[in-house]
Amino acid sequence: MDKTYRVGLIGCGGQGRAHVTGVQADPRLQVVALADPNREAADKFNTDYGFNAPVYTDYQELLEKAKPDIAVACLWTPLHLPVYRDCAQAGVKAVLSEKPMAPTWGDCLEMARIAEQTGCQLTFSHQRRFAKGNILVRQLIADGVFGEIKRLDLYSPPNLLDCGTHTVDQALSFINETPARWVLGAADTSEVLNWFNVRSECMAEGTIVFQNGVRAHLQIGGPDMDMWGGVRVIGSEGFIEVFWDGNYGQAAVYKQPDWKPPVIEEKSDEHMVGLVRNAVDCLQSGQEPEASYQKALRASEILFALYESVRRRARVELPLTDVLDNPLHALLDAETNN
Ligand SMILES: NC(=O)c1ccc[n+]([C@@H]2O[C@H](COP(=O)([O-])OP(=O)(O)OC[C@H]3O[C@@H](n4cnc5c(N)ncnc54)[C@H](O)[C@@H]3O)[C@@H](O)[C@H]2O)c1
Repeated sequence: MDKTYRVGLIGCGGQGRAHVTGVQADPRLQVVALADPNREAADKFNTDYGFNAPVYTDYQELLEKAKPDIAVACLWTPLHLPVYRDCAQAGVKAVLSEKPMAPTWGDCLEMARIAEQTGCQLTFSHQRRFAKGNILVRQLIADGVFGEIKRLDLYSPPNLLDCGTHTVDQALSFINETPARWVLGAADTSEVLNWFNVRSECMAEGTIVFQNGVRAHLQIGGPDMDMWGGVRVIGSEGFIEVFWDGNYGQAAVYKQPDWKPPVIEEKSDEHMVGLVRNAVDCLQSGQEPEASYQKALRASEILFALYESVRRRARVELPLTDVLDNPLHALLDAETNN
């Protein structure tokens, strides 16, 4: 029989609810405790899902008393690192964290360092990797249906760190996780957004060249996007537009004018089910999860390289070195101080 795992849910807000779909679908998981400083939200969560679990207003108390094997951490971005660190220290075996990794590149690297040092499995909610359409496109690309992949067009609503992480992660999944070679970018800060306690631009643009020579254009927010969040994959023999959620836009295979991508029925709930199941499978097998921190780190490096390019007003070669902060925040702070 499969081992069962004690799960602590940390953060009972919107994404906490999204994760419950995945947690409840996996018979290996048993929710043993909830934590949220908003007691009312946590109590309602407990009642709505019938967990009948103890509720803590301090996640440290959850870690001490409930001793979960797995923590599902659905928290605003600046909390991702400290909560992961505390979970790893408390002996939690796996943390399923919300994306993006962290507000600074240094914090992303620190999360990776802790994961390597402690072996506490760390995954991020790049759940769209589990969309049927995205899985199918990965297969079509591997089968050579579009020929050699030459270019990618990446689109996402604002902002680069919060939403762009999904698009860049999706793009990486289409090119065998090939790291970027260089990034050149621009950011429009005529309006400064603040999402999940992280400031950002209202529009970003950039060029990314990957180590395999694939060239990508990226637009995050702003006018005239010719595609909503997703990636247009352009090969030597055809192209396909794949939205974030795995649904398709236009597609063509040049030598087969009748070709159409197979019709698939996407249910977004299945993305979370796949995300959670894969994390637990990999906890058991020791394999790298599909939504691993290693992959999230590759996407994050591109995002922070673009911000660094804005700061340096120069093309930035990867790997990203000599940067630990959030370069966009440094620029915004410098403007305020002048
Ligand atoms: N994967 C996705 O597609 C997706 C979609 C939306 C948001 N997100 C990400 O999810 C994260 C959380 O967003 P959300 O929409 O769930 O926010 P939310 O505000 O709905 O929920 C956050 C919850 O965390 C609680 N909280 C705050 N401090 C806490 C602490 N110290 N310990 C425990 N709980 C605490 C809050 O009281 C709140 O209930 C963000 O980083 C965001 O970028 C991801």
